[in-house]
Amino acid sequence: MRVAVDLAKASRLLNHGPTVLVASAHGGQRDVMAAAWNMPLDFSPPKVAVVIDKNTFSRRLIEASGEFVLSVPCAAQIEMVVGVGNSSGRDLDKFARWNLAAEPASQVQAPLIAGCLAWLECRVYPEPHNEKTYDLFLAEVVAAWADDAAFINGRWQDLAPPQRALHHLGGGEFFTSAGSIKAG
Ligand SMILES: Cc1cc2nc3c(=O)[nH]c(=O)nc-3n(C[C@H](O)[C@H](O)[C@H](O)COP(=O)(O)O)c2cc1C
Repeated sequence: MRVAVDLAKASRLLNHGPTVLVASAHGGQRDVMAAAWNMPLDFSPPKVAVVIDKNTFSRRLIEASGEFVLSVPCAAQIEMVVGVGNSSGRDLDKFARWNLAAEPASQVQAPLIAGCLAWLECRVYPEPHNEKTYDLFLAEVVAAWADDAAFINGRWQDLAPPQRALHHLGGGEFFTSAGSIKAG
């Protein structure tokens, strides 16, 4: 079940460096792409940084809407993640091709991708220089959600293999998250 995450804890949803899905929507069009180059940027208000290449169709929708949603997919979704990361919404409807269930977000137009572990609704801080020069988008997290079996009381759980987050190594190969250790 999807439950709200306290915004003060939203950075933890990305602290472990998962590959994410970036969903966007504008003017009746929508898209989703994979993004390994993302990171949390601050606690309060929570912010994220993500690289959105200027040749992507997602980039067009994000520039037009000023919004996106990051969804944190799991190992069971690996083929879809690589699929949406190697095709363009210019050429096909990725939601139909990968049978993606899109759930409405609470604060933005872009959808949440069902079956993922966590979701961050984001509103872009316009930084034209960074966007144009480095394809780097900074955004405020305006709402955050997690699967209540995966992230409990602000902590990721040690999940079964199909439910673990994906960490991109390159070339469609990933490590998965497992086995936490704690200092102190
Ligand atoms: C595992 C993986 C990670 C990726 N990470 C990024 C990324 O961080 N930033 C980026 O711009 N593109 C990244 N890509 C490539 C985009 O997902 C790809 O260009 C996609 O086809 C864009 O789709 P669109 O044209 O529908 O927006 C990644 C692809 C894969 C498979």
